[in-house]
Amino acid sequence: MRTHPGSPPEPSTPPPAIEIRGLCKSFGNKDVLSSIDLDVAPGEVVCVIGPSGSGKSTLLRCVSLLETPSAGRVVVNGTEVTAAEVDIDRVRRGVGMVFQHFNLFPHLTVLGNLTLAQRRVLRRGRKEAERVARENLDRVGLADRADDYPARLSGGQQQRVAIARALSMEPRLMLFDEPTSALDPELVGEVLAVMRRLALDGMTMMVVTHEMGFARQVADRVVFMDAGTVIEEGGPAQVLEAPRHERTRRFLSRLLDPLTVPGPARTRQEPAPAR
Ligand SMILES: Nc1ncnc2c1ncn2[C@@H]1O[C@H](COP(=O)(O)OP(=O)(O)OP(=O)(O)O)[C@@H](O)[C@H]1O
Ligand SMILES: [Mg+2]
Repeated sequence: MRTHPGSPPEPSTPPPAIEIRGLCKSFGNKDVLSSIDLDVAPGEVVCVIGPSGSGKSTLLRCVSLLETPSAGRVVVNGTEVTAAEVDIDRVRRGVGMVFQHFNLFPHLTVLGNLTLAQRRVLRRGRKEAERVARENLDRVGLADRADDYPARLSGGQQQRVAIARALSMEPRLMLFDEPTSALDPELVGEVLAVMRRLALDGMTMMVVTHEMGFARQVADRVVFMDAGTVIEEGGPAQVLEAPRHERTRRFLSRLLDPLTVPGPARTRQEPAPAR
């Protein structure tokens, strides 16, 4: 079920799909994430925005255990992934991931790409794997491309295949790390449309993106990160249109006007009133 920004919590709130407490990550002596606290409710769509190097990808990678947190607690679908005895493979099976680069196997057809992990990891038979694959290709609008090789598809189509591949593992939540930033501008919309549809179907999603239109329309919550911390979070209208923090304001104004030189905000001199 979808939650809506500003709606009161349900009387019996279900446990979060993702629960992050005091998450820290450092590489050598460089602190990349500093004590992050964040919950994502089942069915919620959370967009994470922030400048390059602020730790957005590292945060997603800690949730999917592609990185090992240095400290803190991460619970995914009720399993504490930071616990010593955790079965990482089982947790990962419940988490679909889509990255900037789609990493499809070039020597396999679209259908082959979608059935490989289903058969190897979930041990599905060929027929069943193909049925699930075709169902998900249909969901991303590519039912007729099952037999094509990835090289025959546009970047937007390849990314939709990557989404269908993740969905074929029937994850309980999906993590997206800038899924449209490697695409030509005219191909971005078709991928965002598929993601929007997925959100409307009730998928729990954490999406790192620079697509502010998508965040405004689709996110239940927007999280702004800078220098490894969550600076602010809230409904998309609040964070994107009336940010509370100067750092958020500066980041958003740079997105709108990429030629702005980073640094202290400078006020333009008003022309002297004509006499
Ligand atoms: N494996 C690694 N080893 C060392 N430093 C790393 C590693 N991965 C990330 N970092 C550093 O961690 C910081 C945060 O990186 P991260 O990729 O999470 O940022 P980001 O917000 O996703 O940036 P971008 O918007 O450019 O993708 C950066 O300073 C980066 O150089
Ligand atoms: Mg990144």
